[in-house]
Amino acid sequence: MTCSAGHDVSRYLSSQLRATQLQPDVSICIFSASFVLAPLVRTVPQSYALKYYFYHRSFSTLIRTRCLIIQFEINIPSNLHPRYITMIRSTEVDGVALIVGSGSGIGKEAAFSLAEAGARVVVFADMNENTATASSEESKKYASRHDYQTSVFKMNVEDEKAVQDMVDFVVAEYGCLDYCVNGAGVDNGTHTPLAETDIENFDRIMHINTRGNLLCVRTQAAAMWKQTPKTWTSRSGTRDIGRGVIVNIASANSFAGLPGKGSYTISKHAAMAITKMSGLDHSADGIRVNAVCPTWVRTPLLDEELRKNPEVQEIISAVCPIKRAAECEEVSDAVTFLCSPAASYVNGAALIIDAALTTTLRLF
Ligand SMILES: NC(=O)c1ccc[n+]([C@@H]2O[C@H](COP(=O)([O-])OP(=O)(O)OC[C@H]3O[C@@H](n4cnc5c(N)ncnc54)[C@H](O)[C@@H]3O)[C@@H](O)[C@H]2O)c1
Repeated sequence: MTCSAGHDVSRYLSSQLRATQLQPDVSICIFSASFVLAPLVRTVPQSYALKYYFYHRSFSTLIRTRCLIIQFEINIPSNLHPRYITMIRSTEVDGVALIVGSGSGIGKEAAFSLAEAGARVVVFADMNENTATASSEESKKYASRHDYQTSVFKMNVEDEKAVQDMVDFVVAEYGCLDYCVNGAGVDNGTHTPLAETDIENFDRIMHINTRGNLLCVRTQAAAMWKQTPKTWTSRSGTRDIGRGVIVNIASANSFAGLPGKGSYTISKHAAMAITKMSGLDHSADGIRVNAVCPTWVRTPLLDEELRKNPEVQEIISAVCPIKRAAECEEVSDAVTFLCSPAASYVNGAALIIDAALTTTLRLF
């Protein structure tokens, strides 16, 4: 099947196919959908109608070969807008998301996953405005809502005022703050035993990974505190899902050490402490704070690490039970789960994403 252009339609159809994993009957499924849409297509400008006619003429052949090309450009009214099929309805999200460190890597993918899962707004915050803008634009391809909105906020997590301005901007612009993901972070850069720790480098890492994380969580929780709690109605009744959710991108190094990575490991243990304390202190306020704790994830941060220390690739293959780094989506989908009503009883917790690596105790 080729599904080209056709903004909403092709995205909807391909999502349905992905969700149902239909393979051989793909063309039949899309063919009937195209007839349902035919009256709408006739109302669009002539050029599009002509394209439709061309493909319409070709349908008999295409059906025989079970191959179909759709090329529409139509807008479906928001009340008719198709939603993604989800296996568990409570994993959908619906609200305003702020992703810090969204110009790259895990933060960027977390933003895409939230847009895909139904977020109405995603604000891309990062110190690199160019990459954040590119990510913000790209997110429109994945957003499932017809009325999806996105914007960019340039900031540095080290700057207390910038963090406050970022949160104020989201609340002023979009009325509330439902989900926050804190993914801005840096690595050691080098492998050095603790006795040789460069204090300047230690201060830099702590300032970004720990103090920066605390500033973000503190400011985000303060804004969520002022909001009205929400509820979620499922097959078994209605439950409180609180005022907002925060997910920190911590690390497997929040629990275990990695030789030569003292400063980073200390900063990530502290990030887990921030997660636990804020989850505990604000549990009764209906604010959940959790962390995802991955081992190696394929991102520019890891690429940089591999460039500086090529032996890390061998270490990953040797120690990781499934012999590879995680893909970004394998982390970002877990972030979305933690944001969703499906995780409404999960608070102050760490979701370790490590293919069981941290459970291994190597005695040989
Ligand atoms: N990649 C991995 O293997 C891995 C594994 C475990 C945990 N983590 C953690 O995940 C987080 C994200 O890592 P990544 O691999 O996606 O990195 P990345 O370098 O791909 O992305 C980090 C983003 O944060 C932004 N950023 C950095 N410092 C900032 C600051 N002071 N203020 C604002 N924005 C800033 C960068 O511009 C970038 O867009 C980090 O906290 C990292 O420690 C990464």
